[in-house]
Amino acid sequence: MGASHRALECDGRAQSWATRKSPPKAQRKGEPVVHMTNQMRRLSTPWSIASERANRIGDANFPPGLILDPAVGSGIHLASICIATNRVGLGIELDEEAARFSAANMNRLLVKGKDPGRMAHRILIGDGVDSLGALSTLHSSLESAGIASTPPIAMLHVDPARPLDAQNHTLDEMAPPLRPLLESWLPKMAIDNRGPALLLDLSPRLSKKQRAEVDKILDDLAPGVDRTWEWLSQGGGRVDRLSVWVGPLASTEKFRSIRMGPSSVESIVSSSEQSLFISEKKTMPPSFDNWVVIVDPSIVESRLHVEWLNNHLDGIYDPFWQRANLRRPVLVSKSPPPQTLISDPFVVAVGRVVAHRLSSPNMENAPTVARAAERAGIGHLVLRCEVDPELHPKIQKRLNKSLKGVDGSRGFVIDIPVSSRDGGWHVNFVTCSEN
Ligand SMILES: C[S@@+](CC[C@H](N)C(=O)[O-])C[C@H]1O[C@@H](n2cnc3c(N)ncnc32)[C@H](O)[C@@H]1O
Repeated sequence: MGASHRALECDGRAQSWATRKSPPKAQRKGEPVVHMTNQMRRLSTPWSIASERANRIGDANFPPGLILDPAVGSGIHLASICIATNRVGLGIELDEEAARFSAANMNRLLVKGKDPGRMAHRILIGDGVDSLGALSTLHSSLESAGIASTPPIAMLHVDPARPLDAQNHTLDEMAPPLRPLLESWLPKMAIDNRGPALLLDLSPRLSKKQRAEVDKILDDLAPGVDRTWEWLSQGGGRVDRLSVWVGPLASTEKFRSIRMGPSSVESIVSSSEQSLFISEKKTMPPSFDNWVVIVDPSIVESRLHVEWLNNHLDGIYDPFWQRANLRRPVLVSKSPPPQTLISDPFVVAVGRVVAHRLSSPNMENAPTVARAAERAGIGHLVLRCEVDPELHPKIQKRLNKSLKGVDGSRGFVIDIPVSSRDGGWHVNFVTCSEN
């Protein structure tokens, strides 16, 4: 018994091993120092997101017991949940080196002490899906440390490793795979009448079909239990995290979109209903003097765009969603957006149309694009349209150079597809002034 896993204590020895192997570093300014290999860094949850989520978990009320992370990686997320909930953590990691660093990180991040609760945190090297093997190893390890009782598992957080191109893969390629993982652990969890406390961290690129597969797994294994799907954006114009909060961790609403700032939540929109996203493809790009609002894609991907926009409709502002790149959903209106919308954290940029062109900004035409913007009073123009990612910074640099010293407002260029008379379509590049 227990041979399937090996237990590591989260203590000074784990930390000394890790320090010899690779000195700890803060991943970002102001964050705690931790040990990571490059691979772990790529997979790890940023500290700001882990600790913000952990605080919300700390506010939830669920049965007493351990926090389990069966794909613990760097241990950062598990440690942050343990700190916020004041509970003991059990992490499992297949990769031995990562597991050892994780035990060291737990030791660094948790408050030091010699009480049984502090001594009971464990990282197991082994398969996170094998609950029997893991629990057997945990019990033996705690027993040999003189800790008599092993609390039940009260919450499961999992952030499976996923294929880089998640759109073209199945859910079974998540490592560890979700269904067998939950089938293995749910019977071992302390569960009250609200069902199991689960936080599933999923790829933000999961397709609608793959999200439905996750729903089906939860319908089968935790029928009738509340769940909240959450899309989180850090304002970089993409969905950064997608997660499902289940049972005591779910809110009363089924869908939620969160805009995170550098360390705290700036805005939350939630609803139990999603709306259809209907965008209009026009035969003309937005006219001169129309107003364009670029909206954070998490609002549209979560299908909470109607709920969100309703907060800003003042009876005068009457926008429509113009067909655009879904990564840059666009609202167009004749009248200026109300101040509440302009300052909404889910708004990426607001501008008035000042120029159109048929060709994409490129290295050759950047000075011409810049001159047109300058004539419209723009002194700094940001590319917010689709261009070759490798060329993007170079074209942006050329625009900056062409507008150097020009006194003017900020502006941006977006790409808007428009229908052609022959039934096809073409892209129009629209310059907007943020003045
Ligand atoms: C996305 S990472 C977790 C990152 C973690 N949340 C953090 O903040 O560092 C997923 C981890 O699961 C591990 N893993 C994959 N399959 C596993 C399995 N069957 N059992 C345990 N760990 C597994 C991988 O080695 C990887 O470290």
